[in-house]
Amino acid sequence: MTERVLRLAAIGGDGIGPEVVAATLPVLAAAVEGGGGTLVVSDLDWGGERYLRTGEVAPADAPDIVRNFDAVLFGAVGRYDVPDDIPVWDLVIRLRQGLQLAVNVRPVHAFPGVPSPVRDVEGVDFVVVRENTEGEYAGIGGRAHGGTGAEIAVEVAVHSAAAIRRVAGYAFQEARRRSAPLVAVSKSNAMRHGYALWDQVVAEVAAGFPDVAWERVFVDAMAARMIERPRSLGVVLASNLFGDILSDLGAVLGGGLGMAPSANICADGSGVGLFEPVHGSAPDIAGSGAANPLGCVLSGAMLLDHTGFAAAAARVRDAVAVTVADLTARTPDIGGRATTAQVAARLLDAVTARRRPARSERDSVGRPGLTAREAGTRAGMTQTPDAEDQPDRATTVGETGGLPGRNAAPEASQLSEDEMADTVSGAGPAGGTAADEPESSTAGNG
Ligand SMILES: NC(=O)c1ccc[n+]([C@@H]2O[C@H](COP(=O)([O-])OP(=O)(O)OC[C@H]3O[C@@H](n4cnc5c(N)ncnc54)[C@H](O)[C@@H]3O)[C@@H](O)[C@H]2O)c1
Repeated sequence: MTERVLRLAAIGGDGIGPEVVAATLPVLAAAVEGGGGTLVVSDLDWGGERYLRTGEVAPADAPDIVRNFDAVLFGAVGRYDVPDDIPVWDLVIRLRQGLQLAVNVRPVHAFPGVPSPVRDVEGVDFVVVRENTEGEYAGIGGRAHGGTGAEIAVEVAVHSAAAIRRVAGYAFQEARRRSAPLVAVSKSNAMRHGYALWDQVVAEVAAGFPDVAWERVFVDAMAARMIERPRSLGVVLASNLFGDILSDLGAVLGGGLGMAPSANICADGSGVGLFEPVHGSAPDIAGSGAANPLGCVLSGAMLLDHTGFAAAAARVRDAVAVTVADLTARTPDIGGRATTAQVAARLLDAVTARRRPARSERDSVGRPGLTAREAGTRAGMTQTPDAEDQPDRATTVGETGGLPGRNAAPEASQLSEDEMADTVSGAGPAGGTAADEPESSTAGNG
C-alpha cells in the first residue's frame, strides 16, 4: 500500500499564532498517521519578529516558496511594536494575492453547549464565502497634503466581473453541495458601481443554478439577520470587506473568534491553500496560555479535506467535538479554565483514542504541557527546519512529484482500510450540511 505523505508549511507568526499552531500540528499529525499517512512539517519564521530582525516579514518570493508544499497552516501576524498593515500586507495579503487564493471559506458552526453572547444558537451551521483578492483590499489608493491639516486619503475599491464570477461560482456550488439557500450580500443601494456589478454578475451566475434558492440582502440588514435568524443561513456570499466583517460576527455565534476556522483556496480547488483561524494575533492574551486553539485546529481539518485526507479531517473534527463537550477542556473565552496546552493534550488524546495500544504510551503522548515538537515527534510528525535554511530540502519536496492530488478524492488504492471506512462515514460536526430546518424560506430565485 502506498504511504501517503502530507507536506505542510507552518507559519506560526506572532502573538498567539505560534501557540495555536503548536497545539494544532500534533493533532493533524496523529490524525494523518491514524490513516497510515505521514505529516512532514517545515516551520517558516515569517512574521513581525522576523521583520524586526531582518527588515522583512517574509521573503519577496514567499508565494513561490510555499508552492513547494501541499498546503500552508498559518497562525496570525501582528505585534504592538510593528505597524499593523506591514505584516498583514507583506504576508497575509501577499500570499492570498500571489497564490490567487480567490476564495476565503469561513464556516460558522455552533457546537452544542459552547456559550455565545447570542441567546439561541443551537443548530447554527452556515458558511461565509468571501472574495479574497480585491474589493476594498485591492491596495490601490494614496494620501496627499500630509502635514497641512487638510490631508486626504483615497482607498479605491476594485470589483471585477471575473473575480465576482469565480467566487460566486464557488458559493453556488457550495450551496448546491449543502442543499442550502444562498444569501448574496450587497450594498448597491448606496454604492452604485461596484456593488451594482456584484448584483449583476451574481444574478448571471445564479441562472446556472436553478436548484439553489437565493436572495440578495444588503450588508446592514445582513448583520441584523445573522443575530436574529442565523438558522435561516446556509451560504453567505460576500465581498472582501463585507465577508471579513460578517465572518467575525458569525464567529460570535459559534462561541467567539477562538472557535472560527478559515480556508484560503483557489476557486477551482487547485494549487496550494492557506488555512488559518479567523482571529488575529491577540497580543492581549499572548503568552498567557489562554488562547483557544480550536479555530486553528478546525482550519487544520479544512486543510486535510482540501489535500485529500478526508478521513483524517473527520478524525480531527470528531476530536474537537469530544473536546468542547468536556467542560474541563475549555479555554476561558468559551467559559472554561483550561490552558492552550491542556486543550491540545485533550485533543491529541481524543484523536489517538481509536488506535491507542497501551496506557503508558497514552500518558507520554497526551500529558498537558507537552510541546508541539515533543508531542509531534511522538505522534509521528516529522519536524524539519525552516525551508529557507534548507533550500535543498524545500526543492526536493517540490520536485518529488507524486504528491496527493489537491482537493481531489484520493485514489482508492492510496487509502488504507481505515481511511476508506472513514471516508464513507462522512464529515464531522463542522463539515456537515447547513441547518436542516431553516427558520425562514423566504429565499427565492431572482
Ligand atoms: N490574518 C491575520 O494574521 C490577522 C487577522 C486579524 C487581525 N490581525 C492582527 O492581529 C492583531 C490583533 O488584532 P485584533 O485585536 O483586532 O483581533 P484579534 O482577533 O487578535 O483579537 C480580538 C479579541 O479576540 C480575542 N481572541 C482572538 N483570538 C482568540 C483565541 N484564539 N482565543 C481566545 N481569545 C481570542 C483577543 O484576545 C481579543 O480580545 C493586529 O495586529 C491585527 O492587525 C491579523
